[in-house]
Amino acid sequence: MSLPFDAAELAASYATKSPQDILKLAFEHFGDDLWISFSGAEDVVLVDMAWKLNKSVKVFSLDTGRLHPETYRFIDQVREHYGIAIDILSPDATALEPFVKEKGLYSFYKDGHSECCGIRKTAPLRRKLATVSAWATGQRRDQSPGTRSHVAVVEEDKTFAGAGMTLFKFNPLAQMSSEEVWAYIRMLELPYNSLHERGFISIGCEPCTRPVLPNQHEREGRWWWEEATQKECGLHAGNLIAKN
Ligand code: ADX
Ligand code: SF4
Repeated sequence: MSLPFDAAELAASYATKSPQDILKLAFEHFGDDLWISFSGAEDVVLVDMAWKLNKSVKVFSLDTGRLHPETYRFIDQVREHYGIAIDILSPDATALEPFVKEKGLYSFYKDGHSECCGIRKTAPLRRKLATVSAWATGQRRDQSPGTRSHVAVVEEDKTFAGAGMTLFKFNPLAQMSSEEVWAYIRMLELPYNSLHERGFISIGCEPCTRPVLPNQHEREGRWWWEEATQKECGLHAGNLIAKN
């Protein structure tokens, strides 16, 4: 099958373009088959930019069952604010229930986050992406010097492509800094997750996220009991491969 475009070539030519230009490219090629993955944090900027280009933008969130109450409220606030449907994806109960029965609700503190993230995040994402051609994330290079410093604005996603399918992953915010993201949120008065008012910068699941101290890197608030180099949960496993 011939690909709609060469991702590596476009990543190079769009490397310094604006997030909106990257999203325009994505919509031009994939239209309503482009899905925005929204975590319920400052990636609301991506939803805002995408919605301004396409009012019928498709958005999904992975409901791990362990998000903060503030994040659930915020996801619903965004749904109402933009008047969009948000697909809320749940883990497969037949995988989750035996796991929790055997290991309890906090096994990740003992043997690492990958098994729980695998069931609550990665498997539902795989199920979703198996049927789509392109997705877009709010990943940025400055979010994790260890794993995201080379994130391309568009790449072929071989981790989550369905059988016989080609999947493209857009990272329109790749080159934005945290300062720029927050300037955008404040300038345009976007809604934001109220946890940000309490020292949270990067926001994931409640048991695996904590606020950071002044000048601590945002990633240090995630899975803080684990090695800094392993702080990817599987959604962006390609970052670890690309790095090696
Ligand atoms: S994570 O892999 O460490 O959890 P992070 O919180 O930095 O990711 O978010 C980066 C991007 O991954 C988000 O902008 C979003 O596109 C996607 N993402 C992360 N968590 C979720 C989620 N629960 N639902 C949907 N997308 C998510
Ligand atoms: Fe489980 Fe924590 Fe991963 Fe959430 S971030 S899926 S609670 S290990």
